[in-house]
Amino acid sequence: MYRSHNCGELRITDTDKEVTLAGWVQKSRDKGFMIWIDLRDRYGITQLIFDEARTDAAIMQHARTLGREFVIQVKGIVIERESKNSNIPTGEVEVLVKELSILNEAQLPPFTIEDETDGGEDLRMKYRYLDIRRNPVKNSLLFRHKITQEVRNYLSNLDFCEVETPYLIKSTPEGARDFVVPSRMNPGQFYALPQSPQTFKQLLMVGGLDKYFQIVKCFRDEDLRADRQPEFTQIDCEMSFIEQEDILSVFEGLTRHLLKTVHNIDITAFPRMSYEEAMRRYGNDKPDIRFGMEFGELNTVAQHKNFSVFNDAELVAGIAVPGAASYTRKQIDALTDWVKRPQVGASGMVYCKCELDGTFKSSVDKFYDQADLSRWAEVTGAQPGDLILVLSGSANKTRAQLSALRMELAHRLGLRKPDEFAPLWVTDFPLLEWDDETGRYHAMHHPFTSPKKEDMHLLDTDPGKVRANAYDLVLNGNEIGGGSIRIHDKETQSLMFKHLGFTADQAQEQFGFLLDAFQYGAPPHGGLAFGLDRLVAILGGQETIRDFIAFPKNNAGRDVMIDAPAAIDQTQLQELSLEVHIS
Ligand code: AMO
Repeated sequence: MYRSHNCGELRITDTDKEVTLAGWVQKSRDKGFMIWIDLRDRYGITQLIFDEARTDAAIMQHARTLGREFVIQVKGIVIERESKNSNIPTGEVEVLVKELSILNEAQLPPFTIEDETDGGEDLRMKYRYLDIRRNPVKNSLLFRHKITQEVRNYLSNLDFCEVETPYLIKSTPEGARDFVVPSRMNPGQFYALPQSPQTFKQLLMVGGLDKYFQIVKCFRDEDLRADRQPEFTQIDCEMSFIEQEDILSVFEGLTRHLLKTVHNIDITAFPRMSYEEAMRRYGNDKPDIRFGMEFGELNTVAQHKNFSVFNDAELVAGIAVPGAASYTRKQIDALTDWVKRPQVGASGMVYCKCELDGTFKSSVDKFYDQADLSRWAEVTGAQPGDLILVLSGSANKTRAQLSALRMELAHRLGLRKPDEFAPLWVTDFPLLEWDDETGRYHAMHHPFTSPKKEDMHLLDTDPGKVRANAYDLVLNGNEIGGGSIRIHDKETQSLMFKHLGFTADQAQEQFGFLLDAFQYGAPPHGGLAFGLDRLVAILGGQETIRDFIAFPKNNAGRDVMIDAPAAIDQTQLQELSLEVHIS
């Protein structure tokens, strides 16, 4: 038996027990006649004491050879500590060591294994197994496990059946780029790793499984950001004989359940908003609704007053920044520079201070009098003491710019509180999205999403206006999940492919299996997928998903620990009928 207890377990009530512990040496203090060692494992830290008066001299000697991160086993007696440590649960006791064995020695770690480490990101990723010994990383993985377990239980209790779908599938032209895998047995042919199990889960519905889920790895070769990894995990779900309302209600239930079990929070409001409304009020299809600063559209009150910048604009919109009327000229100039950065791209910014005495002071006083400005305040909901910031231009760009400004200000004002949770369903997404690069429409969600019946007639005349039965779950300004009601008949699916620019032959070649399946009694169905990494990170009060993944990739898509991707040797290439040309 390696251990009778773990390192987080012993309490004052265990005094006088003989125990065996095993773990890592966190640190040691040698006072000559006494040595203390903090022994650490996943569960906590227990203090060991070696005392000249009570411990064998050879063991004292042995204890002096122990370095940080050595793996040891000790036998000893639990005793009450003289100076107690109320910061840790085992802090009232220590173990007086009678026997010591070194299970493995350790080199000095390249960074300190402490909550606050001196190791930079790159070093920690190269030695991720050491990083995982630190509480913040270890706790993130335990937190992820807890959520995964709750999800499995919740869905299983509702009769969802977990089914594994294949990882070696076929490349499809929609969505992000695929990761591909050459096939040795089929020279010149490639599998693709799934971007999601979308078509398989639909086929499971045709198979009559009724309610499916899978906690599943997905692979997308896209540019990486804090909330994106090339391989990530979805909680993927599909249901038959349901309408959108049924799906929203099941997954609203799951979200409530997670917030309750993980944070003991009862969510009171779980609002819904159409895509169109989200764009109008927040300029964003994943608005953070934990704070206000909603957009006020100022066209009617700010145009035709001789200020040509506004007169020429498709949209003039502003936000009221709470308590910011006291900003100095310098602060406002800095904000103007911020919105003018290429990443945001505004050409300028107009401000109006709502002074505490009820008067207004704006950067465009030449064109607007006090009565005009008071209408700006009305439209943006500004109170005395607030600062109104206004952008203008084409509607889409202005909304995106003002949204970026709103988020930046919320961040600076501390309004994005990590322990406050505001979920939101965004519904009625457009079915199609115009892509300038390829000069054609793309499915905004994916090609299997069903258009709204009442908008079907617009498919030929005004495709961009057709709305889909598609929805996203947004949590604190992050897209946590998305899904849709699917097309389940061959005719509509073929029509959809046609609108996405597929010829009938191409559609048959790419998705013939699905079109065929729809001819054998496909039930009405729909579903959604949550991004597990994002969900866990947001529930954990953070936005970087890397911290919640055991072995993540860096921003260049590399695993710096195992040094992947890497070249393969000539024989392997030949077996795969591949030649590599690097220019
Ligand atoms: P979608 O593409 O919206 O839908 O993906 C679902 C959710 O997965 C998460 N996500 C990611 N997380 C980390 N890294 C990435 N690279 C990444 N890409 C996506 C997001 C997103 O909301 N098959 C459909 C779902 C359906 O229709 O049922 C799908 O994959 O949180």
